[in-house]
Amino acid sequence: MPVNPQSLLSSLNQQTETLTQRLDALHQHLLVSVPSVDRIACALYEAQDDTLKTFINSTRAGRAISGYEYKLADSASLSALARSGEFRVLDDIAQAIRSDTAHSVWLREQGYQSSFTVPLYDGGQLLGFVFFDSMHGNAFTPEVQRDLVLYSNLIGMAIAGELAAVRAVLEATRVARELAQVRDFETGTHLERMARYSRIIAQAVAPRYGLNDEFVESVYLFSSLHDIGKIGIPDKVLLKPGKLDAEERVVMHTHVDKGVQIIDRIVGTGEHRRLPDSTVLRNIVHCHHEYLDGSGYPRGLRGDAVPVEARIVTVADIFDALTAGRPYKQVWSPTDALGELDRMVAAGQLDPACVQAVHDHLEQILTIRARYTDADVEV
Ligand SMILES: [Fe+2]
Ligand SMILES: [Fe+2]
Repeated sequence: MPVNPQSLLSSLNQQTETLTQRLDALHQHLLVSVPSVDRIACALYEAQDDTLKTFINSTRAGRAISGYEYKLADSASLSALARSGEFRVLDDIAQAIRSDTAHSVWLREQGYQSSFTVPLYDGGQLLGFVFFDSMHGNAFTPEVQRDLVLYSNLIGMAIAGELAAVRAVLEATRVARELAQVRDFETGTHLERMARYSRIIAQAVAPRYGLNDEFVESVYLFSSLHDIGKIGIPDKVLLKPGKLDAEERVVMHTHVDKGVQIIDRIVGTGEHRRLPDSTVLRNIVHCHHEYLDGSGYPRGLRGDAVPVEARIVTVADIFDALTAGRPYKQVWSPTDALGELDRMVAAGQLDPACVQAVHDHLEQILTIRARYTDADVEV
């Protein structure tokens, strides 16, 4: 059956859906014409550290792999594809893939017999790869390949569009921050650490809460915007060195609702949203001061009403606030900070799994802390 580009495009352009949901819809569509494709997965390429990381997948048969990263340079065949822009057909996976990387072992275990790989580019830069896998041998005839290249281009466009939207939002908030000249209250390194701590926690709790790679990536990208509303707080409150009095605290707490307003202005609402799926971003900004026992603000949400992306960022933010040096503040040792997080878990305020993630990945977290110190930033 020929591909119908019109309905394909509409399944990819569903503005309210995540990329994972859109890929699922596209897979459904593809199965009508090519029933033997059991899995479509995309890995994203990060040029900065030459890594490929699992990003979105739609898996009908076999177990999905997630939270996996590897160096592009470690795969000679993918590196060659990235350079040449050619496609790769493997008609007999067991024969063709002999390496013992976690990914190869996983691939063999799933029972996929053949696969088709297409590199994706955006403006000449490598964006990542699309992998099509089949439980059948020789599933990728030249005719099927032709169709799949079309699908791959559409997937590439959808991903590139989404990433461009994310970049636009991050850039707009950076400009807003600079215009308000409030660099003093949050250093660049705080934001860097926040993003990385949040990603570690998100990845660690992903199996428990059923979070996919796309979700983890969103938490990573948006966690640093949690306090964007502080640009609307007057300096005499925001930059006050000592403790805030009751009245000042009320003013300070408005940074959450102000943040949501800023995000609405930047992202847009309703039909004209710049960012197809901004739920994670909005939840992080709106709920990063909520506690599970209902004692947080602004809404005093309880338990499951506090979205998991906000629980993650809350733990990362508190840990960093305690362990990072500020001119007028005493710095806690990581052990003391962990003790404080444990105390807050016992009091029913923080998510136990998120705090456990900090315990379990402390070494990684301390490496990040050492790498992004405030010393090299003007405070
Ligand atoms: Fe905040
Ligand atoms: Fe913060």
